[in-house]
Amino acid sequence: MVIGILKEPVSEQRVAMLPGEAAVLKKMGFGIFVETGAGERAFAADAAYADAGAVVVSRKEVIAGSDMLISIAAPVHDTAEFRSGQIICSILNPVENSAWLESARSKGLTVLALDMVPRTSRAQSMDILSSMASVAGYKAVLEAASRLPKFFPMFMTAAGTIKPAKVLVLGAGVAGLQALAVSRKLGAVVEVFDVRSAVKEEVKSLGGKFVEVEGSTEDSGAGGYAVEQSEEYKRKQQELIQQRAILSDVVISTAQIPGKKAPILIIKDTVMKMKPGSVIVDLAASGGGNCELTENGKTISVNGVTIIGKSDFPSDMPSDSSKMFGNNIINLVKIMADKDATVRINLADDIVNGTTAVHSGEYVSDRIKQILNL
Ligand code: NAI
Repeated sequence: MVIGILKEPVSEQRVAMLPGEAAVLKKMGFGIFVETGAGERAFAADAAYADAGAVVVSRKEVIAGSDMLISIAAPVHDTAEFRSGQIICSILNPVENSAWLESARSKGLTVLALDMVPRTSRAQSMDILSSMASVAGYKAVLEAASRLPKFFPMFMTAAGTIKPAKVLVLGAGVAGLQALAVSRKLGAVVEVFDVRSAVKEEVKSLGGKFVEVEGSTEDSGAGGYAVEQSEEYKRKQQELIQQRAILSDVVISTAQIPGKKAPILIIKDTVMKMKPGSVIVDLAASGGGNCELTENGKTISVNGVTIIGKSDFPSDMPSDSSKMFGNNIINLVKIMADKDATVRINLADDIVNGTTAVHSGEYVSDRIKQILNL
């Protein structure tokens, strides 16, 4: 079976797989086609892919010659080139790309949606969203540190003592815990807030102080994700966050509830009361933002507070982001491939079932059916 690596749109610096990971697939017995220049923005030259045993050709030739195509963004402009039975493996964004998904279904393509890999222990090594959230948490701290007009660590100098920066992290999922860990490494004092009390111990073990509001709604059946909170809880939560944010130099917000708009945790009044010079990095910007004033894709300043609404942090760190992305794909391929290096769509496997958007003319993933109201 041949796996083809497509080049991403110009706004994306990552590539779905670097030469090192392509070599692993090659060793497993797959043929590898790569679009010319696919890795150049991630510092991987065509020659490096060729050295890894891949065939570097035009996009048209990659699509014509491959049984399975991998990319980061869904290849929504290539439908005419695809043929029935081909497997497309990318981040889907089902709402945004619902029309494309329908055309893929009617054409008989199989679409594997990497953003739908279930969040289970077994699927952890294939969880692209977690990998990328981890990159985002790391980069968010570095971005905040470079914008903050103060040091992160405490310094005792001849010119006086510098107090450590205070960081408030909202949401202790993958991005939030990474932001906590990196902030601590830079010497900041960190507080973390989450609606899931289960993360309390993890926060403490990474050196953070857990702040909580009593009475949150938790659902052990939500697969480690948060659920919608009551109006009363939301009011108390906004008050607590305001109290803590006013004392903070940096707020990194990462709160999300799958399939829902990001919860508003930082209201305008909070921003107006924060210290001038402080920085908010709103990682949930693309989902509407955790701050009422966030503008997706923009950095703005309100009352002296910098609000960063950047949604493409992983693209800014293309080497390691691409490496993690490729490794996640390899781990997915490993559970699907037979010993003859052919990917089989075994819908009895919960990971494959949850990740398969369409197959043999049918919608498969329950989550996608739910998201698209099918
Ligand atoms: P996650 O689901 O692992 O973590 C989110 C956390 O927020 C959970 O612990 C959840 O309990 C918590 N949460 C939900 N509602 C809350 C509330 N009302 N108050 C406090 N905490 C609440 O998500 P992950 O993977 O860490 O991603 C976090 C965010 O980062 C997502 O919005 C994701 O889209 C975004 N992201 C942003 C990137 C960027 O470049 N800006 C890149 C990758 C991810």
